[in-house]
Amino acid sequence: MNGALVSTEYQAELSEIASAASLADLEAIRVAKLGKAGTITALLKTLGGMTPEQRQAEGPKIHALREAVTVAIADRKAALDEVALDARLATEKLDMSLPVSPGAPGSVHPVAQVMDELAEIFADLGFAVATGPEIEDDWHNFTALNIPETHPARAMHDTFYFPDKEDGKKMLLRTHTSPVQIRTMMNQEPPIRIIAPGRTYRSDSDATHTPMFHQVEGLVIDRGIHMGHLKWTLETFVKAFFERDDIVLRLRPSFFPFTEPSAEVDVGFTWEKGRRVIGGDPTGPNGGWMEILGSGMVHPKVIANCGLDPDEWQGFAFGCGIDRLAMLKYGMDDLRPFFDGDLRWLKHYGFAALDVPTLSGGVGA
Ligand code: PHE
Repeated sequence: MNGALVSTEYQAELSEIASAASLADLEAIRVAKLGKAGTITALLKTLGGMTPEQRQAEGPKIHALREAVTVAIADRKAALDEVALDARLATEKLDMSLPVSPGAPGSVHPVAQVMDELAEIFADLGFAVATGPEIEDDWHNFTALNIPETHPARAMHDTFYFPDKEDGKKMLLRTHTSPVQIRTMMNQEPPIRIIAPGRTYRSDSDATHTPMFHQVEGLVIDRGIHMGHLKWTLETFVKAFFERDDIVLRLRPSFFPFTEPSAEVDVGFTWEKGRRVIGGDPTGPNGGWMEILGSGMVHPKVIANCGLDPDEWQGFAFGCGIDRLAMLKYGMDDLRPFFDGDLRWLKHYGFAALDVPTLSGGVGA
């Protein structure tokens, strides 16, 4: 080895290092030069065989070469590391330090919300939740409820019927939740206290009627039950539901084949800023009455139809439109958007997730 060789290799060494395309290439270059069998390592070894004069002349050059190559490799490695990091930053999106995106959360539908509220209120009063099929037979939906064959509610234009079955059974979409009264009395020993919320169907469609709607049925069967129990229960329920104590009810005599006596129940409201608000003085200049449900003492024939002795067992029942309750509580004026599934409508009425109005207190709270 001589000085000329070292100086000509110098530039070549450095440009090879500077143009290494990857960390793997750079490492291969490092091993080829500075490794145990590397070219520069070999040059260093030649120093041992030189005369003192030669060593004095060549030693500094060889050491300078090794130093320059070492520095060039370190520089190139730093540059390649940075390129690799930039590439990762450009392609990898996972940043554990960023807050999690909330995504698109679901929300509770007003009808589901009101059903939960009803279950909560009546649970405080000792009522269980009962259910029944939406596809009913006409015995549970009409006959057992003392609704005569000739009753207009049985007509095709009010009730959705299925094609006649071979065994002569007439199946239909239940027109009210009252068949759950029958199923409960037939399957359960009194005393009975249930509510039965669910879907009901009638051939009807305008701003306040949809072919599918929701009702909640209430039923109490026990000894010595009278209209006073009915009135107190409804008052307690309505006050808890609308979260106001200044609510009055008006029971008007009415007729249902399955209750005797029967009463339609109106709730007092007052006009506030162009809106009907439940509560206040219904007899005052801003007040009025609005019908919210049908009720009565369960007809002795209905009790007998279920295999119970009407001389021993009495009770009351009521049936109430859930959609109507939701409209009154949350200020909606059209029933149809309830079933359009339009998120803007839900958000408008405050039914976005985590923002759902909840009952602030139970009964008596
Ligand atoms: N089933 C009746 C209706 O749908 C309501 C009702 C239920 C009335 C229970 C009295 C007792 O209109």
